[in-house]
Amino acid sequence: MVRSIEVDLKDAQHVKKELLEKQEINLEYRPIKENGKIYFPVTESYSGETTEKDLQESIRPKVLSFKEALEPILTPQELEIVKTAYDVAGNIAIIEVPLELQSKEKGIGEALLSTNPLIKTVLRKDSGHDGVFRTQDMKYLAGEETKVATYKENNCTLTFNVEEVYFSVRLSTERKRISDQVQEGENILVMFSGAAPYPCVLAKNTLAEHIVGVEINPQGHEFGLLNVKKNKLQNVELHCGDVREVVPTISWTYDRIIMPLPKTAEEFLDVALPVANKGCTIHLYGFYHEEEFDKAVAEIDKYCKAANRNYEIKEIVKCGQQSPRTYRICVDFVVN
Ligand SMILES: C[S@@+](CC[C@H](N)C(=O)[O-])C[C@H]1O[C@@H](n2cnc3c(N)ncnc32)[C@H](O)[C@@H]1O
Repeated sequence: MVRSIEVDLKDAQHVKKELLEKQEINLEYRPIKENGKIYFPVTESYSGETTEKDLQESIRPKVLSFKEALEPILTPQELEIVKTAYDVAGNIAIIEVPLELQSKEKGIGEALLSTNPLIKTVLRKDSGHDGVFRTQDMKYLAGEETKVATYKENNCTLTFNVEEVYFSVRLSTERKRISDQVQEGENILVMFSGAAPYPCVLAKNTLAEHIVGVEINPQGHEFGLLNVKKNKLQNVELHCGDVREVVPTISWTYDRIIMPLPKTAEEFLDVALPVANKGCTIHLYGFYHEEEFDKAVAEIDKYCKAANRNYEIKEIVKCGQQSPRTYRICVDFVVN
């Protein structure tokens, strides 16, 4: 018996695409149709509700894993150091290639293309997240030559250039976590809004009244406007500029403020607090070693005291890992 999910036939295409994107479809078996339903076999990492299905009749000829597809082109020593984990944004896969293997990087890109029909382009990370815009250089390796990805998350379609704009598909669960907290009628400020994933996800999935996003990177802002339009969202207002200059000029005050700039977000608490309504929830992101989460709280304490605001820490959530024992955390706190 194989772990599977039952899906209405009309939803088959988009469910299959989502499972492939999240690498949650078990490619060892073909899906089967029964009584107007289709059953997709899923991997262990799938966390939703599943049912057990007998799929013995639909075992596929074996699909090569990325590592297996690399065996013909890399030596055993090279196979030891190659990185087989990768991110997928829509049809674009983004891989890391160690310096020692860069002479073979085109072949590595081709090998990845051959393992997943949804991957049409392979790019290689060519830098860390740099500069004020937190963007990352990308080198084209294989497939269709593009750096513009269109991908789906949390009922939204989001388009962005993976090199010109910061974007992390890994934060989709975190966006869902915030979206689940939003109450009807809230006014929300998303500082550092990038290509507007938070504004779009919140507008699409909640009954928030109004959502303001502010982004300093003009290209990020342009993709944000495109995403708001594509998702037909009426209650999102995006501004291009530095939050320090722009936020004080907007007449709204907020019930929730999201601050997703993990390197330096706390330095903008003096901009956030004056526009936070009584009872406003602030989501402040930061990178902290697991033994130093209290440093984030100390920053909040410092800025709230300076602004003469009381605060209550609600939760500290790990929402990503930067390096061993150092996490991307979100501190959720309420200001009065
Ligand atoms: C880590 S990214 C997050 C982007 C987006 N919220 C997301 O989750 O994909 C931080 C963003 O903040 C923007 N940024 C940095 N400093 C800023 C500032 N002073 N005012 C407005 N945006 C800023 C960067 O250009 C970048 O797009």
